[in-house]
Amino acid sequence: MNFDYFTPTKVVFGKGAEAKTGELVKEQGGHKVLIHYGSGSVVRTGLLDKICHSLEEAGISYVLLGGVVPNPRLSKVREGICLCREEKVDFLLAVGGGSVIDSTKAIGYGLANEGDVWDFYDRKRQAAGCTPLGAVLTIAAAGSEMSDSSVITNEDGWIKRGYSSNYCRCRFAVMDPELTYTLPDYQTQSGCVDIMMHTMERYFNLSDNMELTDGISEALIRTVMKNAIILKQNPSDYNARAEVMWASSLSHNGLTGCGTGGGDWASHQIEHELGGMFDVAHGAGLAAIWGSWARYVYPEHPERFARFAKQIFDLEERADMQELALAGIEKMEDCYRSMGMPTNLKELGIEPTEAQMHEMAEKCCFFGQRTVGVIKKLTAEDVEKIYRMARG
Ligand code: NZQ
Ligand code: ZN
Repeated sequence: MNFDYFTPTKVVFGKGAEAKTGELVKEQGGHKVLIHYGSGSVVRTGLLDKICHSLEEAGISYVLLGGVVPNPRLSKVREGICLCREEKVDFLLAVGGGSVIDSTKAIGYGLANEGDVWDFYDRKRQAAGCTPLGAVLTIAAAGSEMSDSSVITNEDGWIKRGYSSNYCRCRFAVMDPELTYTLPDYQTQSGCVDIMMHTMERYFNLSDNMELTDGISEALIRTVMKNAIILKQNPSDYNARAEVMWASSLSHNGLTGCGTGGGDWASHQIEHELGGMFDVAHGAGLAAIWGSWARYVYPEHPERFARFAKQIFDLEERADMQELALAGIEKMEDCYRSMGMPTNLKELGIEPTEAQMHEMAEKCCFFGQRTVGVIKKLTAEDVEKIYRMARG
């Protein structure tokens, strides 16, 4: 299939890379920077001080705004937009993970466009630009450092929505794997699930004829699977941290979707509602939902699931393709378990009521305005069934 591949982010990867941040901002023409960060990890680790120092050395002034929470909130975005207008900020620097980068992207949209920034996430209109931004990554997970998307939660109704455009692509991404040593194991593993899922969402498609893209995707999934387990034993294994960090970017910069028509993405849409309503870690939410989604849709395209079973888990060909497909799904769930990740909602720590599952399914399908997924186009009714299957 025809495709566009656009990945304009300069990657500066390796030990001590964060010391180059000031020069990178300068290279981009930034004069006054907003340093945006989360709930304190970058203060505790001393990274924030290092970044401030690097900007000072490059002669660049800055203002600080912390307090971004996982499943980043619209109110913080609005606060950032006001602050940047007052301070005449011309470059945005995210220091953190997907939540911080996404909040930064949303601030960028708010600054570069008139009117309410939520309109873009609410699909009322398209953005015409975004204030330039860069990222210093502290967790390998969402891939926002190279992706075209950002995901924000509106506290008014607890609606979590993504918005994608090339305007918000980071100008640069600083990736020092050592910065991820301080992550709690749950976040490391949750991040690894998200990385694999960005690849799997694209892998489960209806095209079936991109040998190279499939090969890259399979290598990526196997690499993350292996290194996630290494990190469980030794969180300071540099090579494992580096493999996973690079995988996080490659899994979501479009590479694993080239020629495959974009992928399925239903699991992400289904999970986003869990994040919006129950504030769960995104990757863990994906692990909790994926098996139920896969069991619900695999009969539509068992060939793809059978290939997954063979290529990822070395399972042998069987006379019954459906049986092989199911065996692959079970193996994937075993893998999530060995990573300490949930495979249903109870293990995720939530027990949604019938009414809540109905509400999430309706929100997920924009109250009847869309279906989600490609392998099987899911209506709100289907999505509600998947939530039920995933209850545990
Ligand atoms: O806030 P702090 O104190 O920094 O703590 C964070 C947070 O609690 C902590 N953390 C990050 N780096 C750390 C660290 N703790 C210790 N040491 C470090 N080095 O980890 C927690 C999770 O951080 P967060 O940024 O939320 O993680 P992640 O990168 O998984 O981002 C999740 C968000 O990204 C969205 C998700 O929906 C979710 O809202 N996504 C964004 C995408 C995109 N823009 O392309 C795609 C994804 O599919 C995803 O939907
Ligand atoms: Zn994701």
